[in-house]
Amino acid sequence: MATKSNITSYLEQNLKTRYMGRDVHFLPVITSTMDEARKLAEQGAPNGAAIIAGEQETGRGRMGRSWLSPEGSLATSIVLRPPANALHLLPAIASVAVYNAVGRIGVKASIKWPNDVLISGKKVCGILIENGFNAGNLVYSITGIGINVNFETTRFPEIADIATSLSVELGKEVSIPEVALNLYSEMEKLYDRIGEPDFIMSEWTSHMETIGRRVNVNTGSGTLEGIAESVNPRGNLVLRLDDGSVCEVVAGDVSNVRKKSK
Ligand code: BTN
Repeated sequence: MATKSNITSYLEQNLKTRYMGRDVHFLPVITSTMDEARKLAEQGAPNGAAIIAGEQETGRGRMGRSWLSPEGSLATSIVLRPPANALHLLPAIASVAVYNAVGRIGVKASIKWPNDVLISGKKVCGILIENGFNAGNLVYSITGIGINVNFETTRFPEIADIATSLSVELGKEVSIPEVALNLYSEMEKLYDRIGEPDFIMSEWTSHMETIGRRVNVNTGSGTLEGIAESVNPRGNLVLRLDDGSVCEVVAGDVSNVRKKSK
């Protein structure tokens, strides 16, 4: 199996994309791929340029959380230059790309709004999107993707109950370079269709386990509880609260996904 240090040569030899992951940089130990990708973007890196870390010292998660990236995980950030009016599609593009990428190695996943990828209810991948603006105009967007590929999640008490990895699910070691190749390939296929929001949204919602369920949503300023009815064209979660009113959640963390009656 290819090791992490030869991931870039594996990609250079095997990746067939036109732009996604073609300008790829591997860094053994860094703070966060988000920081390095931002530097690349500010130096003018093209759409699809990517950073891969061997290890992140301060991996970042959504909503101010940290992200654990031990040996055996894939941590990558991709520089994208989408049209500003399509920015809201990136969580969908990235999570469907991961869903498809792991599907290529035989793993059946699901998506939890907005962009967690789960296997049997446990998180296998997190996605973080950070944008760069100049004078109010979007200049670049960084899509950071962390996939638990090859490690025993039970070794880490802080995630033992809520996370899984591809190797745990498949019961065998998984090639990190192959997962990266699948990921960039699937990202490009979807990003190529960024001008077709209906297609992207329907791919996203068709794999989303959240819809039709009773959920709790931590919005950062409180917790809402209700039925996740749909996702609107902006990508916001449409939540029916128990008093019958409807609330559109722009950003939040969904938990306690259960059947409507509970
Ligand atoms: C989340 O679920 O909270 C998002 C996690 C995102 C983790 C990835 S790993 C690659 C990139 N670098 C980071 O520091 N974070 C993202």
